[in-house]
Amino acid sequence: MTAIDRYIESHRQAFVDDLSDLLRIPSVSADSRHAGDVRRAAEWMAARFEQMGLTTELVETAGHPLVVAESPPVPGKPVALVYGHYDVQPPDPLGEWTTPPFEPSIRHGNIYARGATDDKGQLLTHVKSVEAWIKSGERLPLQVKFLIEGEEEVGSANLERYVAENRERLACDCVVISDCGQFAPGVPAITYGLRGIAYYELKLFGPQQDLHSGTFGGGVTNPAGALVSMLSALKDADGRIQVPGFYDDVLPLTTAEREQFADLPFDEADFMRQLAVDGLTGEAGYTTLERRWARPTCDVNGLTSGYQGEGAKTVLPARASAKFSFRLVPNQDPAKISQALQQFLEARLPPGIHMELVDFHGAPGVVVPLESPYIRAAAAAIEAGFGSPPVYIREGGSIPIVNTFAHELDADVLLLGWGQNDDNTHSPNEKFCLADFQRGIRASAHLWSELAKEDSGAGSRESG
Ligand code: BES
Ligand code: MN
Ligand code: MN
Repeated sequence: MTAIDRYIESHRQAFVDDLSDLLRIPSVSADSRHAGDVRRAAEWMAARFEQMGLTTELVETAGHPLVVAESPPVPGKPVALVYGHYDVQPPDPLGEWTTPPFEPSIRHGNIYARGATDDKGQLLTHVKSVEAWIKSGERLPLQVKFLIEGEEEVGSANLERYVAENRERLACDCVVISDCGQFAPGVPAITYGLRGIAYYELKLFGPQQDLHSGTFGGGVTNPAGALVSMLSALKDADGRIQVPGFYDDVLPLTTAEREQFADLPFDEADFMRQLAVDGLTGEAGYTTLERRWARPTCDVNGLTSGYQGEGAKTVLPARASAKFSFRLVPNQDPAKISQALQQFLEARLPPGIHMELVDFHGAPGVVVPLESPYIRAAAAAIEAGFGSPPVYIREGGSIPIVNTFAHELDADVLLLGWGQNDDNTHSPNEKFCLADFQRGIRASAHLWSELAKEDSGAGSRESG
């Protein structure tokens, strides 16, 4: 690997420059005003793959484009499919950024920008490692395919269809995803579980226009009041979700798994310090890691109603709305939850209010098998890149397409996160540690040779 290692070492700055280039493109998938920028990011990715000599295609979808690329087949060796996303979350609130979100800035060894860790920086580690293999004159020891999308942050609805319709083209033995985190600085991890999601907006409509709250208050149902009581009915005092049937399909944590979580070096006081909170709540009977990784929950994501300006205004608002979402665990079904939720809310709608429930997106949770031989390869690669072996963790975030990969492609999924818990994903001042960027590239370069030691079809995939 020395020629490859040398290439990675000598291109440290060039890799950071390239990442900065990509970070300058405001590819915010949720905001239609940025549709052109999202496309520009896709074109940027495609150009990189082409420069590396990969067979590359920009694939149009009903939404933002996909970028699909591949290196030449290597008979008898496994095929790895790298998945990642070039789209990012909205940068709001803008005023809280130390430097603007789309002007990457390097401070204390971190690169700050929206998308730095989620997912542009992590994704590029695999692009750069493949570049290192090819440009240093080595033959990649296995075929690497790339499938990069621009709609992960809005639910991956169009990718689902593409994967189902292109199973041959995407055929692979394992899917490599770096879109999550390490356990802690110096403690790299392999993630074997992610939560699913079911995201909604509840809109409540009362009187035809805003009213004087003195003249009408007490006699007319207030949509804002109705909204908060309906939302607070979703959870009881023990943090248990009250929607009927919500827990029916939940796969419980095993005793062994709870013991493994408890063995991880997690310090609750440190965790609270990091977030600047002086207490924690959650479902009764579970630890913080269990609550965040392996138990379903409900969070309000946004609230809108009434007067938001300076000073006081005595008003009874005509409308109120909330965005909220459940995080799901295996084997909960988002469609089933939507149905039960609709009934639950309708039953609690007070007289004088009408409701609309918008169902934005849903994805089931996943747990991937750790017995896969490709997991061994990933662990060896991580040790080579990061200098310590990985711990095995679950995470609370969601990557909607992972389930589809496991089922449609019958491939083992490797979730190899290079991020840190304090990277500020989806928040102001998102960052990625440049040392982790470099270590991630090294680990990825080793991953290709480690995976090539395994037989094709050695994983969950059936031969033939
Ligand atoms: N990279 C995250 C998912 C993630 C976060 C995995 C933290 C593990 C740890 C991804 O980009 C993301 O934010 N997903 C969304 C999915 C949603 C928009 C459908 C999420 O989890 O909110
Ligand atoms: Mn991501
Ligand atoms: Mn994200």
